[in-house]
Amino acid sequence: MEENSKIPVHVSIIMDGNGRWAKERGKERFYGHVEGVESVRACTEEAIRKGVKYLSLFAFSEENWNRPEDEVRSLMGLMVKAMVNELPTFQKNGIKFIVLGNRSRLDDSLNAEIDECMGLTAGYTNLNLVIFLSYSGRWDILQAAKRLALEAAADPSAAQAVRDMDAGGFSRYLSTGGIPDPDLIIRTSGELRISNYLLWQCAYSEMYFTDTLWPDFKAAEFDAALAEYAKRDRRYGKVK
Ligand code: FPP
Repeated sequence: MEENSKIPVHVSIIMDGNGRWAKERGKERFYGHVEGVESVRACTEEAIRKGVKYLSLFAFSEENWNRPEDEVRSLMGLMVKAMVNELPTFQKNGIKFIVLGNRSRLDDSLNAEIDECMGLTAGYTNLNLVIFLSYSGRWDILQAAKRLALEAAADPSAAQAVRDMDAGGFSRYLSTGGIPDPDLIIRTSGELRISNYLLWQCAYSEMYFTDTLWPDFKAAEFDAALAEYAKRDRRYGKVK
């Protein structure tokens, strides 16, 4: 098999361990999130170098809204700042910036920044950088099912199309519609869970778990995950 065919099209990362990384250094949790942004930058650069076309990152889950208010506020602030600071880099490197999740829970100023950043990078194709913000897998499946049900209720002639719908057709109603499912999902910090992430989309993803905490996950660690992926034999339930 050609070497390049072993490069995953879509790598997705559950970034975990920022708080523990900071604690190990006797610092506030926020310090871990700040270094976590450096890991986002390092992995984005490495993804481009390796020819990965989609890099998606679980930046903030629906469950994360239950964290202390000041941590939520500082995390959101950090993400706005990173987005504004990185916009020239996105433009220079041809990165299309996409935010997916329950954006109705984000405040207006953050939504406005996101729309601007998405609009200004919409034409780029070098790398799609997808940030999952206020996201959960169950939310995504539920919003897709609701949309489909409402569409069908509004147009009774669509009933047959709903009966005939296959998994590919349903996928188009998910927030990730049009984005290929992740080939590789990485989770840092030693936790061995999917934590309500891409529940539908992970059906055939290869999973890579590492004890490395997210702030320590830079280009070399990203490459190690790609090397492990290249060794996997993907069969999609079939016999080879
Ligand atoms: C998990 O560590 C990390 C998060 C919930 C936030 C991740 C967000 C960033 C690194 C900023 C992303 C920035 C951009 C631009 C996308 P944790 O706090 O759960 O750590 P712990 O498990 O050790 O407590």
